[in-house]
Amino acid sequence: MEKMWSGRFSQSASSLLDEFNASIMFDRELYIEDIEGSIAHATMLQKQGILTQKELENIITGLNQVRSEIESGEFKWNISDEDLHMGIEKRLTVLIGDAGKKLHTARSRNDQVAVDFRRWTLKKNLAIVEAIKKLMAEILVVAKQHTETLIPGMTHLQHAQPTNFGFHLGAYLSMFKRDIARFEDSFKRNNISPLGCAALAGTPHNVDRKMTAELLGFDSVSTNCLDTVSDRDFALEILFNISTMMMHISRLSEELIMWSSYEFGFVELSDEYSTGSSIMPQKKNPDVPELLRGKTGRVYGSLMGLLTVMKGLPLAYNKDTQEDKEGVFDAVKTAEISLEILKEAIKTMEVKPHNMEKACAIGHLSATDLADYLVEKCDIPFREAHFITGRAVAKGEELNTDLSQMEFKYLKEIDERIKEDVMEYLVLRNSMNARTSEGGTATKRTKEQLAYFKDFLEGK
Ligand code: ARG
Repeated sequence: MEKMWSGRFSQSASSLLDEFNASIMFDRELYIEDIEGSIAHATMLQKQGILTQKELENIITGLNQVRSEIESGEFKWNISDEDLHMGIEKRLTVLIGDAGKKLHTARSRNDQVAVDFRRWTLKKNLAIVEAIKKLMAEILVVAKQHTETLIPGMTHLQHAQPTNFGFHLGAYLSMFKRDIARFEDSFKRNNISPLGCAALAGTPHNVDRKMTAELLGFDSVSTNCLDTVSDRDFALEILFNISTMMMHISRLSEELIMWSSYEFGFVELSDEYSTGSSIMPQKKNPDVPELLRGKTGRVYGSLMGLLTVMKGLPLAYNKDTQEDKEGVFDAVKTAEISLEILKEAIKTMEVKPHNMEKACAIGHLSATDLADYLVEKCDIPFREAHFITGRAVAKGEELNTDLSQMEFKYLKEIDERIKEDVMEYLVLRNSMNARTSEGGTATKRTKEQLAYFKDFLEGK
């Protein structure tokens, strides 16, 4: 079949080349952006006197026809057309004749694909923000119910200090809020129009780049055409933003997996979002968080893939760049379904406060409180207080008793400066509520944090 660029060739392309070179099997994802971009470009060409009113009307009618053929499934995607840009233009020309051949005036596929892919990515930045907000709202519902539910706060996966479950979930709300800021920031930074850059150096035609930028919803036009046609920072940014967000999702998933085990028993995922075993009849497996953790890897792969594609490219456009799309499409799809399913899994899981609180009575979570007591009430330097408390912990280990439940007489034996009022300090709930510094776990502080996230989600 005759190629659009066949003028200087005397032999036709091999079918092996068609198969290797084509992107039409996957870049059709961009058809809406491609058609909208072409309509904006044609509208501008008409205003600048390059197309007649009649030609513009034909082009718009023809492109709308192509769009409905694509949407009804009638459109023939043909690898010999190479990519969606040429596939659509070719069909347009079949439909409307000569006016179709004028559409590509003052344009190259280089600025065309840059516009299409950039706009697609920008939209997805915003769609993902909305999906993160929905997930956050669901986490917030659970967090609010558990601002007094004790859970062992850990470092090194060892019991550290008592916290509450609302506070714990608040940590994830903080992460997702940062993710939102990254997607929004990328949107603002990259909302710049490449159209009118043509192949690499601009065009001698009298184009109005500001007009097409405005028609397509861009904030401004790009500054340097050579950069613009091969800039894929917007694609790298969404991959990095998704990677970071998936890393947060993966950390939460890891905790859900641990918490669902018999050893923890802090939550139970609903039947709807759990799976069974083909051999072990008793099994209820947390496949959803496991897959979320696993899918994080493929998203990182796409980020590394595109960074590697871009690293050695001389200016300006190179065909290597065609490798930019599949990883981004896959990462966006992964992000969207991951956010949705995590939201549902959280909404339907059962929280088990009793088990969380029971786990707090192991591991001497109030040891720091004893040290703080010695500093505050007995005027003992912290280093010494730390040592005395260590001895109390050793005693507890010997008696097989948690510090929060140790009898006063043993504490007094360790250091006689310790008075009866120490017992209040060792109560786990008091320990949690004692941490009243800004951002701390005290229920009062946790509620402040959750109110902050609520305001954020309500756009206040
Ligand atoms: N399919 C190509 C891509 O995705 C479109 C741009 C092609 N430009 C070119 N000069 N070959 O990058």
